[in-house]
Amino acid sequence: MCGIVGAVAQRDVGEILLEGLKALEYRGYDSAGIAIIDPKNQLTCLRTQGKVQELVNLYKKSPVLGKTGIAHTRWATHGKPSECNAHPHLSGETIAVVHNGIIENYESLRKELVQAGYHFCSETDTETIAHLIHQEYTNTHDFLQSVKNVVKKLKGAYALAILNKAEPDHIIGVRFGSPLVVGLGIGENFIASDLAALLPVTQKGLILENGDIVDVHRDHVDIFDKTGKKTNRSIYESELTLDAVNRGQYQHFMLKEIFEQPKVLEATLQNSFSDHHVLIESFGHKARELFPKIKQIQIVACGTSYYAGMIARYWIEDIAQIPCQVEIASEIRYRRTIVAPNTLFVTISQSGETADTLEALRQAKDLGYMGSLTICNTPESSLVRESDLAFITRAGKEIGVASTKAFTTQLAALCCLTLAIAQHTTPAKNLKKLVEDLKHIPEIASKTLETTNRAIKDLSGYFADKKNALFLGRGIQYPIALEGALKLKEIAYVHAEGYPAGELKHGPLALVDKNMPVITVAPNDDLLEKLKSNLQEVRARGGQLIVFNDDQTGIKNQEGIMSIKMPKVNPILAPLIYVIPLQLLAYYVALIKGTDIDHPRNLAKSVTVE
Ligand code: F6R
Repeated sequence: MCGIVGAVAQRDVGEILLEGLKALEYRGYDSAGIAIIDPKNQLTCLRTQGKVQELVNLYKKSPVLGKTGIAHTRWATHGKPSECNAHPHLSGETIAVVHNGIIENYESLRKELVQAGYHFCSETDTETIAHLIHQEYTNTHDFLQSVKNVVKKLKGAYALAILNKAEPDHIIGVRFGSPLVVGLGIGENFIASDLAALLPVTQKGLILENGDIVDVHRDHVDIFDKTGKKTNRSIYESELTLDAVNRGQYQHFMLKEIFEQPKVLEATLQNSFSDHHVLIESFGHKARELFPKIKQIQIVACGTSYYAGMIARYWIEDIAQIPCQVEIASEIRYRRTIVAPNTLFVTISQSGETADTLEALRQAKDLGYMGSLTICNTPESSLVRESDLAFITRAGKEIGVASTKAFTTQLAALCCLTLAIAQHTTPAKNLKKLVEDLKHIPEIASKTLETTNRAIKDLSGYFADKKNALFLGRGIQYPIALEGALKLKEIAYVHAEGYPAGELKHGPLALVDKNMPVITVAPNDDLLEKLKSNLQEVRARGGQLIVFNDDQTGIKNQEGIMSIKMPKVNPILAPLIYVIPLQLLAYYVALIKGTDIDHPRNLAKSVTVE
């Protein structure tokens, strides 16, 4: 989604802003822009459609000097991607605004502004904000007060950065539903959607709360809370380093992140165990009081994180023997739900800012859940701050739009959650082996990468002319089939469907012929024999099977079956391992198809609008 950067410094800020935009490219965008107040007190604005590099090229041709500026990457919501819809949006050559989010009442505001004589150059909701601030400033001649007055008129979820040529020594930021942080420098200060955008200039930041307005000057920042009262927010040091946001030896962040999985799984599991049991405190200090009382679990998430939740349901019901429901956040928000006593509400999210998941959590607070827990990769995110309990996955910054290492670390965390709850429902001796097996997962992940990478790279050529694929799994592997299909769709733009293998004959079998690759995850588990029968159904119709399985399954390479061998793993933990070759498959097929792997079309990393 859109990315915001702003700077007030004693040096020229153009390059700092452009570097910031590059660091925010991972969020997904379709156009970019920058506005700077130059030494002659002119407001200069450059905007381009397409990659940030286009903007950088334009800037190189006509550099803009100036010590105060804002910049933006836009992910289109209102109005198509184009230069004139790109931000910043200006009003009266005085006010410049960049915006992340949606202004829901912009149509009525726009009508009033047109009646008042304002001319609109774009189709965006954002331009409304620029004109409103201009209108207020014409009356008040007070920049901060004008922003405060305008915010009262806006409905929606948004973050803003605003520049005023008439007051060139400060910028104003607003956080109202979409993320915004302040970066603290020496004699210079910044705002951004994510502190990662500011790493070359500072690692120190302030996290704004919802409803905060921040007035950023070179030597100080003033923050006002949603009631208008001046307030302080605590300073944090980002653990991120520039290394974490560089591709290193890898051609794409996605491949780097797939290969980081053994390390980040290890980091996620590292501090969660004492001998043979999970440390309940890893979920927060209230966990010891809440966990023994849990009678039911409701999991809510979106996309890949939702699939992690689907797998957790198998674990929670099988191992902890507690009922568990899983639902997509954008669905549960809009229906009446009945909450059973002592139900824990669990959200799963890489970013911690996904609008639907966050809103579902906010609603859950009034619905009688016993408490909320988030499994999240971003410690400073809204989900972590607004949940009663949190388990922080240690995937580190995930830059590729497709979730890979975030997913496997979510699974590791959810397995720990299951084991922590099971301590109150199941004899300890039943859990000991599982804990030991879980500790070995990073090592097995490493072996999987070693043994399958080459084979999958070689196999990817087979997909060069393929337009469709089916992914099959049974039981706990069914969500892995869904995840494999999602990865292939989003990165390689190949239409793919994930199915529980037993469902094939109820419809999708009609699609199977010699042009249909059928990718199957087949660990040596209780359902293997049933799965083998489903594979026969595919073979009988000429479908081409690609089967990920281990030596003990007896599945061999033969006409119509490509068998790719996986290391041995406890079947109940197999989703953590069997997703890895599917990530690699999507990556290498995308490489052959020549897609933009780290920034697939139309997608954004952090989905901060509904
Ligand atoms: C797919 C993917 C998305 C995210 C989804 C939720 O590869 O990355 O489906 O999983 O947008 O995002 P988070 O986990 O940040 O809430």
